Amino acid sequence: MSVYDLSGRKALVTGGARGLGEGMARALVRAGAAVVIADIRDDLGKAAADALRADGATAGFTSLDVTSEPSWEQAIPQAISFLGGLDILVNNAGIEITSLLVDIDPGDVRRQLEVNVLGTALGIKHGFRAMRPGGPAGAGGVIVNVASVAATIAFPGIAAYSATKSAVDRLTRVAALESGKLGYGVRVNCVYPGLVPTEMGNQLAQDMSTIGLYPSAEAAAGAVIELTPMGRLGEVADMADVVVFLASDGARFITGAGLPVDGGMGI
Ligand SMILES: NC(=O)c1ccc[n+]([C@@H]2O[C@H](COP(=O)([O-])OP(=O)(O)OC[C@H]3O[C@@H](n4cnc5c(N)ncnc54)[C@H](O)[C@@H]3O)[C@@H](O)[C@H]2O)c1
Repeated sequence: MSVYDLSGRKALVTGGARGLGEGMARALVRAGAAVVIADIRDDLGKAAADALRADGATAGFTSLDVTSEPSWEQAIPQAISFLGGLDILVNNAGIEITSLLVDIDPGDVRRQLEVNVLGTALGIKHGFRAMRPGGPAGAGGVIVNVASVAATIAFPGIAAYSATKSAVDRLTRVAALESGKLGYGVRVNCVYPGLVPTEMGNQLAQDMSTIGLYPSAEAAAGAVIELTPMGRLGEVADMADVVVFLASDGARFITGAGLPVDGGMGI
C-alpha cells in the first residue's frame, strides 16, 4: 500500500462546505479517508457531504462555528461518533476582509482574529484533546492548519488578514512543539496557499479593485500572477493534494512545518 494512502483514516475538515475546504474533503476521500465536513453553512455543508456520499464515500456534515468553544465541544464528539474515531483535523475555515490600513475597521479586524486565529487555536485544542492518548479518539494523528502566502510576503490591502495568517503559522509551530514534548502523537503542520479563485479569492481580487489598488479584479489577479514564478493562480486541487500529503504517512517525520503552495510567489 502507498504511504500516501489514507484508507481507514478519519478526517474532519472545517470550512469544508465550499472552496478549498470542500476540495480538501474530496481529496481526502479520494485518498481513502472517511470525512466529516464542519461549517457554519449548514445548507452548503450538507450538500457537499451528500455529493461525496453519492460518489460512494463515507462522508457526513456537522454544524460548527470555529469561534465557539461550545460548538467545538459538540462537533468533535459528533464527528468521532460518526467516523468511529479521528486521525486528521484540517483547520481550514477562514475569512478575509480587505482594507487599507488607513481605513481599518476594528470590527473587521476582530472578526478576522476570531475566525482565523481563535478558530484555529480552538481547533488545535480540541483536536489535541480528542487525539492524544486517553482522548476519545486517542491514537494520535495529524493536524493541518491553513495559513496563506499572506503570512510569508507583504501584499497591500490585506494587513489584518496577513497578521492573522502569520499567527496561524506561529500557532502551528508551538502546537507541534507541545505535541512532541507532551507525547500527544499528533503532527501539526500548515500550508501557505497562493491566491485561488474561490469565492474568497474572487472577492479579494474584486475588493483590491474597489479600494483603488488595481483598476479591476482582473488586474489584481494579473499582479499576483506576475509575482508568481509558475505564472498562474492556484487551483483548489493544488492545495487539496498537499493537505493529503501532510495528512499521510509520507509526511510521517514532518511536524511544525509550513509548506508554501503558491507557485513560488513567496520566494
Ligand atoms: N482562496 C484563496 O485565495 C486563499 C489563499 C490563501 C489562503 N486561503 C485560506 O484557505 C481557507 C479557505 O479559503 P476559501 O478560499 O475556500 O474560502 P471560502 O470563503 O470560499 O470558504 C470558507 C469556508 O469557511 C467557512 N467558515 C467561515 N467562517 C466560519 C466559522 N466561523 N466556522 C466554520 N466555518 C466557517 C465558510 O462558511 C466557507 O464554507 C481560508 O482559511 C483562507 O484564508 C485562501
